[in-house]
Amino acid sequence: MRMTGSPSEPLLAMLPWQTPLEEWPDHLVVALPRGISRHIVRFVRLEGVVYAIKEIEEPFAVREYELLFDLERRDLPCVEPVGVVLDRVGLHGEPLPGALITKHLDFSLPYRALFSSSLRRETADRLIDALALLLVQVHLVGFSWNDCSLSNTLFRRDAGVFAAYLVDAETGEIHPSLSVGQREYDLDTAATNVAGELMDLEAGGRLQEGIDPIVTGVSLRTRYDALWNEITEPLVVSRVDRYRMEARMRRLNDLGFDVAELQVDTQPDGEHITVAPKVVDAGHHSRRLLQLTGLDVEENQARRLLNDLDSYRMKLGLETDDEQIAAHRWVTDRFERVMAEVGPDLRGKLEPAEIFHEVLEHRWFMSERAGASVPFGDAVSDYVATVLAAKPYEKSVLGAREGTASDDTATLRIVLPPEMSQQGEP
Ligand SMILES: Nc1ncnc2c1ncn2[C@@H]1O[C@H](COP(=O)(O)OP(=O)(O)OP(=O)(O)O)[C@@H](O)[C@H]1O
Ligand SMILES: [Mg+2]
Repeated sequence: MRMTGSPSEPLLAMLPWQTPLEEWPDHLVVALPRGISRHIVRFVRLEGVVYAIKEIEEPFAVREYELLFDLERRDLPCVEPVGVVLDRVGLHGEPLPGALITKHLDFSLPYRALFSSSLRRETADRLIDALALLLVQVHLVGFSWNDCSLSNTLFRRDAGVFAAYLVDAETGEIHPSLSVGQREYDLDTAATNVAGELMDLEAGGRLQEGIDPIVTGVSLRTRYDALWNEITEPLVVSRVDRYRMEARMRRLNDLGFDVAELQVDTQPDGEHITVAPKVVDAGHHSRRLLQLTGLDVEENQARRLLNDLDSYRMKLGLETDDEQIAAHRWVTDRFERVMAEVGPDLRGKLEPAEIFHEVLEHRWFMSERAGASVPFGDAVSDYVATVLAAKPYEKSVLGAREGTASDDTATLRIVLPPEMSQQGEP
């Protein structure tokens, strides 16, 4: 057996690689929800870190590892590749397929685990929005996915909506840039896949009535096109209406993008210029929050937190110039205060930034009901006692002890719809 990549955890090499993944003993694997897949995927936990292992023929394992590595290097939301296992030999000398190891994405859920009885329209729309954004992001760097679907995506909560992460890169290709035809092909596949997945839900009685799978699949295209055009379409401006360029930049920031480079061309009339955003990076708000506070969170969560930071700064009577000082105090006074009140027991329920977002929402609702602004501290205590305590645990694995099968079931408290626990099994 050979392991390549960046497997910094030596215990990974000591897993029973001479046994087919399907037969690994229960005490090693962690029962976490996963999407439908052709290959066998299982999760193991070593030293508190959960890894996903996918058993797959060697050339495909290597290819997928390299693609994920490339995507991660370009800062795209995808699962983190750890390594590949090659030259596996079984106990009786028989050759075994290769394996791809990735880090389990904390707090992520496959789409079928995001709802308990049936997929509601609102949730479906949010899933489609997140998927469209992910597709735009990967296309911007020249990655054609070729098998974009809900099952090949993981979702994390992001201030009430979802952030999508690419999980299955097997069929993808990286090019210097994509032609219209390549993007079209990818979109067609995505729309068809999504429609198919929704039809499956429908057949199982798990799709809210009135949602049309095909229309929803097509809406992925519409959403994608609107985003793509807003981000890439050149703009013609003259001296007089050059403010439109600034407005455009602001809209891009609002959508969560930063423009790193502009291509400016003079029109033949000499009066107008064409401006096209050239290098566009997603994550405008999360980068800014990271810079100010060191908190690394999803884009919408960051937007929310930055807004709160802004009101906090104004409350303190600090100017915009003092943002760094305000940020420093905000982290201790607001963010860490909420986390301290939540306490270690409840922390695995939701990601810290999502908890903070929910506290802000909760405070808003309480204030509405009271007809007056409720103090922050009161809202935190009420939220923890009445809302958070009743939620399921969404962090991958909880509990301090390592190891036994009973441990997995005792520590995993995600509420799964009955069929989820079987999914992905051959
Ligand atoms: N790093 C990870 N973190 C969390 N979940 C993961 C991870 N890797 C895989 N999974 C889960 O395993 C499922 C199957 O993985 P994947 O889609 O890569 O398998 P596949 O057999 O290649 O799929 P397909 O049938 O589309 O070819 C995913 O939907 C996801 O739920
Ligand atoms: Mg897949």
